[in-house]
Amino acid sequence: QPANIAVIGSNMMDLITYIDRMPDRGETVEAPDFAMGFGGKGANQAVAAARLGSKVMMVTCVGDDAFGPQVIDNLARNGIDTTHVRQVPGKASGVAPIFVEKDGENAILIVKGANADLGPDDIDKAAEALRGTSAILLQLEVEPETVYHAVAFGAREGIATILNPAPARRDLDVARLAGLDWFCPNESELALLSGLPTGTDAEVTEAARSLIARGIGNVVVTLGGRGARWITADAVTEIAPVRVTPVDTTGAGDAFIGSFAHFLGTGADPAQALEQAARFAALSITRRGTQSSYATAEDFSAFAPG
Ligand code: RIB
Ligand code: NA
Repeated sequence: QPANIAVIGSNMMDLITYIDRMPDRGETVEAPDFAMGFGGKGANQAVAAARLGSKVMMVTCVGDDAFGPQVIDNLARNGIDTTHVRQVPGKASGVAPIFVEKDGENAILIVKGANADLGPDDIDKAAEALRGTSAILLQLEVEPETVYHAVAFGAREGIATILNPAPARRDLDVARLAGLDWFCPNESELALLSGLPTGTDAEVTEAARSLIARGIGNVVVTLGGRGARWITADAVTEIAPVRVTPVDTTGAGDAFIGSFAHFLGTGADPAQALEQAARFAALSITRRGTQSSYATAEDFSAFAPG
């Protein structure tokens, strides 16, 4: 069965240290717990969609180290097509040292490693398989040139493109995103990329519309505890928050994006797809870990929040 969703993006090995407090410079402190897990925004979004039953392919680069084969194996075990995963000689795999404090707050460092090698060529080599998909998911843990190339490819081939501009980077050239179908930032990413304030509801909508005026189809702004908002040139749709008690929010944004692509792909209208995605992300924050906290379709249908 050919893939209907493609993720062109990153993978990381998450090195999660649960800490009482961050050490000061030059200081050594003991931490209570450590766990390693599969992460990276691209891989997380791919796994979220696959767990719900989408056929997913991933275009990504792993390193020439012990993590590389493990990352590929994890994708395959989640049913993701790894034909277009490339191992880069002499490069380390991407890693993310993550520090989680007792209140669940986290601080994340990302070391891109082989993810920095994912280039326009990798997309061209996968073109035939990509042509069979109906959506391409993108994030910013790979080079911007790769993202621009993917957006142009999607626009040319009539494949919907969805960009989650995380982590935010100021040097992203919005002009080169013209033709993008779905832009999905949080408020601070929206402020950075539009150059406009996002302090009030009206400002959020105005900042989103400034991007729409530059050739982006739809903007979905995630608003944390206040839900999300879908903004087009002439309509604004509020997506209500789903209230749960948080345990670990790492990867919740990826759960939202990956599941949104899945629900859109099943033919749901966008507002319904976003409501379902908000429920899927909420379920993930009630569980520890990143990919380990993503539900299967069966699991998800049994989830009734509130
Ligand atoms: O969005 C969460 C992800 O960000 C983690 O899995 C980590 O790998 C970083 O990429
Ligand atoms: Na989680």
